[in-house]
Amino acid sequence: MKVKALLVALSMGGVLFAGDKLILKKPPESLKKYYPPASKKFEFLSNMYTMSTAFYGINLNINDGNWEGARDWAVKLRDTYVKTSKMVPEWKDYFKPKLAENLVKAVESKNVDRVIEASKKLGQTCAKCHADNQIAVKLVYHFPSFDNVKIEDPVEFMEYETGKYMEKLSNSLKALKVYLIQGNAEGAQEAGMNFVERARQLRSMCSKCHTNKLSEEVIVGKEFEGHLTKLEELLSSDKPNRDEIFKTLGPIGATCNKCHNVHLIPALVQEAFRK
Ligand code: HEC
Ligand code: HEC
Ligand code: HEC
Repeated sequence: MKVKALLVALSMGGVLFAGDKLILKKPPESLKKYYPPASKKFEFLSNMYTMSTAFYGINLNINDGNWEGARDWAVKLRDTYVKTSKMVPEWKDYFKPKLAENLVKAVESKNVDRVIEASKKLGQTCAKCHADNQIAVKLVYHFPSFDNVKIEDPVEFMEYETGKYMEKLSNSLKALKVYLIQGNAEGAQEAGMNFVERARQLRSMCSKCHTNKLSEEVIVGKEFEGHLTKLEELLSSDKPNRDEIFKTLGPIGATCNKCHNVHLIPALVQEAFRK
């Protein structure tokens, strides 16, 4: 019975979100040095895995009846916790080293109830910090920035940063739609061709971050090119077929969304924190 309860209590060490509100706080400056480009070792995250493994190590060993083993993991957990508490001064107050020490003592007492209690208390300090910071840290530090990605505009022969380029791209798409709806064939043709050229150029961005051509292919590969070629053909006819054109815009828009679903959220969060 007690062993089962211990399992439940120790799961507190993981991620825990609560409430009906999610606030993203800008990660503190001093966290930077544990992430690329400053460091490729992910020292902070690595300590997180160590602590989480140690938590489980205590659990597993107590279930096995190996209190000595459990003590070793408790000590490792405490030491890593104390070390981590000094890594990001802005986050000092999230850590309660005394609670990590209490867990070691609880394991030494070989009293399961005390271990559960001490684990729960320590686990709450993990959960509090995760609720406040984990999502923002993931969005900021696990994605390289689109800021440094420049795209050559094939229409204006200018280099633009991603945000500006997206605006040009989406404005030529909107112009195409407006002219089609107004029945202005010439305007639609020009805007449409600009859009096709700009959409084709999107592929040039991918290799700034991806080394695997497969990632490119999944979103802006042959299928996407097929739709763009079709759009180009439809636009080239003397009397562009409005309904057919709108039909090809469907899968093209779905491609934009696919890429946004993966890349836009982190880019927006990063941008918000820069201001
Ligand atoms: C890399 C994959 C990628 C593809 C493909 C892509 N986008 Fe984007 N898009 C982004 C990123 C990243 C941003 C955020 C840029 C920034 O703000 O710095 C963005 C931003 C935008 C924005 C501004 C959105 C906002 O809420 O701020 C528009 C509009 C847009 N894209 C339109 C399009 C259209 C239309 C297409 C398809 C024809 C497209 N995008 C294809 C990555 C992509
Ligand atoms: C002061 C804040 C803070 C405290 C305290 C803290 N963490 Fe974390 N933890 C984080 C942040 C931020 C991340 C996200 C890091 C990243 O993804 O690079 C994280 C990530 C993790 C992860 C990895 C999750 C994943 O899937 O990537 C684990 C596991 C973890 N923490 C365990 C713990 C445990 C166990 C404790 C307590 C003993 C703890 N953490 C205490 C801030 C904290
Ligand atoms: C600023 C950097 C950046 C640019 C530019 C970029 N990506 Fe990504 N992309 C990422 C990151 C980071 C991930 C998350 C996976 C990872 O960490 O490798 C990702 C994930 C993906 C994934 C899913 C996982 C995978 O690796 O296949 C696809 C598909 C993808 N990107 C396609 C594209 C396409 C298509 C383009 C160009 C139109 C593009 N990306 C441009 C950074 C970028």
